[in-house]
Amino acid sequence: MTMNAIGQINTIVGDLNKNSVVYDLGSGDGRLLIYMSKRFQCKGVGIEFDPIYVERSRKAVHANGLDDLIEIRHGDVCKVDDIEKATVVFMFLCYQTNAELQHVVQTAYDSGAKILSNMFSLKYLGDPRVKEVCDGVTHLYLYCKNEEEEQQQQQQHVQEEEQKKPEIIEKLELYLDPLRNPWIIKIFHGAMAFLLMLLGFLIFYAGIHNIHLYNISFLTICLWGLTTWVFSKVQKAVERKRKDQ
Ligand SMILES: C[S@@+](CC[C@H](N)C(=O)[O-])C[C@H]1O[C@@H](n2cnc3c(N)ncnc32)[C@H](O)[C@@H]1O
Repeated sequence: MTMNAIGQINTIVGDLNKNSVVYDLGSGDGRLLIYMSKRFQCKGVGIEFDPIYVERSRKAVHANGLDDLIEIRHGDVCKVDDIEKATVVFMFLCYQTNAELQHVVQTAYDSGAKILSNMFSLKYLGDPRVKEVCDGVTHLYLYCKNEEEEQQQQQQHVQEEEQKKPEIIEKLELYLDPLRNPWIIKIFHGAMAFLLMLLGFLIFYAGIHNIHLYNISFLTICLWGLTTWVFSKVQKAVERKRKDQ
């Protein structure tokens, strides 16, 4: 990329400053990062797989006293694993590498970075916000979210979170109040049914063996009452504990 075109980048990106972190994917001799750091004091990360360029650019960074601001990595741009730190991503790569790089670029874009592609538009990011021809030959395509889009995404996120809420509350309630657990309620109803059957059986038994019915009924009713009382006490205790929490 020509120095003249590099000099025009800020008019397209708009807000480069010392808080910016520029990633140059395929950084070549490092000229773009060196210019940006010198002019705007921004941080830069360059990724380059040609060892000759890596060495040349590292020397240039050192010669310009920018070791603290610029890091040149020797590697493949498709394997960058911290792209979400970028506020601006620059790329001047061939069509094929651009396609292979989609996951990296998409991550950067989703994290709010501005993406500036030289020569090739990036169809997967939709229409470019700015399309500029610098120097008569350099075609720059800028992709970034606008505030409206970001707000929409934010709202969507909030709605998704809201949808998860009832599920979480329900689980929490069951945890805090286990007596509302459908299984415990089923067991309780089972116990009640068992007591009723027992009562029926005892009445039958009393009929056969001539035992006074009121004794048997009294015993069963006491048993039933006791179970209900214990159950309601436990339920109240759990309720109290839940309120305390
Ligand atoms: C056209 S140059 C751009 C250099 C610099 N960004 C500039 O604008 O001056 C593209 C650079 O990307 C490097 N490159 C291409 N594919 C790459 C890959 N997969 N990983 C790392 N570097 C790559 C090339 O070695 C070359 O130096």
